[in-house]
Amino acid sequence: MKNQIILSPIKEMEIRSAEISGVVSLAQGVPSFDTPECIKRRAIEAISEGRSARYSLSPGILELREAIEYSLARENIFYDFEKEIIVTAGSIEAITATLLALIKKGDEVLIPDPTYTSYQSAIKTAGGIPVFFPLDEQKDWAFDLQELEKKINSKTRAILFCNPNNPTGTVYSREQLAYLIELAERHNLYVLSDEVYRNFVYDDLDFFSLAQFSAFRKRIIHIFSFSKAYAMTGWRVAYLATDRSLAEKILPIHDALVTCAPVVSQWGALAALEMAGEDLLFFKREFLRRRELICNEMENLKNWFSFVRPSSAYFIFPRFKEGLLEKLKKLKLPEKIELSLRPDQKKSLSWRLALDLLNQAKVALVPGSAFGKVGENHLRLCFGRSDEDIKKTFTRMRKYFNSYF
Ligand SMILES: Cc1ncc(COP(=O)(O)O)c(C=O)c1O
Repeated sequence: MKNQIILSPIKEMEIRSAEISGVVSLAQGVPSFDTPECIKRRAIEAISEGRSARYSLSPGILELREAIEYSLARENIFYDFEKEIIVTAGSIEAITATLLALIKKGDEVLIPDPTYTSYQSAIKTAGGIPVFFPLDEQKDWAFDLQELEKKINSKTRAILFCNPNNPTGTVYSREQLAYLIELAERHNLYVLSDEVYRNFVYDDLDFFSLAQFSAFRKRIIHIFSFSKAYAMTGWRVAYLATDRSLAEKILPIHDALVTCAPVVSQWGALAALEMAGEDLLFFKREFLRRRELICNEMENLKNWFSFVRPSSAYFIFPRFKEGLLEKLKKLKLPEKIELSLRPDQKKSLSWRLALDLLNQAKVALVPGSAFGKVGENHLRLCFGRSDEDIKKTFTRMRKYFNSYF
């Protein structure tokens, strides 16, 4: 059952923690903020004025697509709102619809290791086979492009990645992206560039979007979501932009899956682009501050973990040190938990630690193996959550490490 689709481990951790009272969670990548007022107001107006009761056009309301075209143009990314932009029900729908449209059963899709867990399910849903290529932890988790090229064969159809990367917070350089797209050109591959964290890049680092390589637009699918940038994860609204030759293949699949993105959310997304710039900057400043908070807290656990300071997004991905690995090899979980594990979870030390932390310390985190084999022996913590949750998590973790180990 190699290609079996399993529930994302991130969602599994949330479900497991919902069964225990008093758990504090830094598991799912959800910002702690409420959606900005200007977005909520526009959505309420749309409801009151009867503009959200019916389906929109399948690619989305014209006003929103026009605003997306305009906002992309400011970044030197050029797509025609009529034929090349599709508003989707979250970016995961954009990714799944694209794969369903462009790959066939048995095709291989390359994804970084470690990367966002749900890519594997999206690829499998489209009948494809996810094939991991390793990132280089020694180089702040940059692409190892030689290793990537070794994975390409006659069945490889596409590369799917996120920039910035979840869970490592890596921002890929222009040079690496240039090499990647040339590689894709040489091997005739599509490249899906998921940029849901592009607004949260720190330390004056330059962000470069793959879609800026316009000469390669016939193989690039650019994806962005309102979920993270504007604290709208529940609204389910995102978009993809691509050359019309690909958009016309993706549109019927998007239509078959959801008809159109939720219309009320599309009006909210329009307000986000037109009016929520200040909110976006506020969120970025807050995440930056919380990055310092979480890095300081991690320093207090440095006997057990080492970590790369994340340059973007809101995740930290600490690695287990040797001493912790030795302890974990002897860790015994309660029988009830042991019985609930799949064989791959039983063997994974990051799963075992995450479940023990949940059970003993009431802290929900994501095991690194959820993101790929290279992710094993790490945990992912989200600092998009509130200061209070971050502090509570580390108080509990310190107590756990002092008393159980
Ligand atoms: C890299 C990445 N892509 C896509 C998604 C899904 O986002 P959406 O809410 O737009 O479906 C997430 C959510 O955590 C993510 O981390």
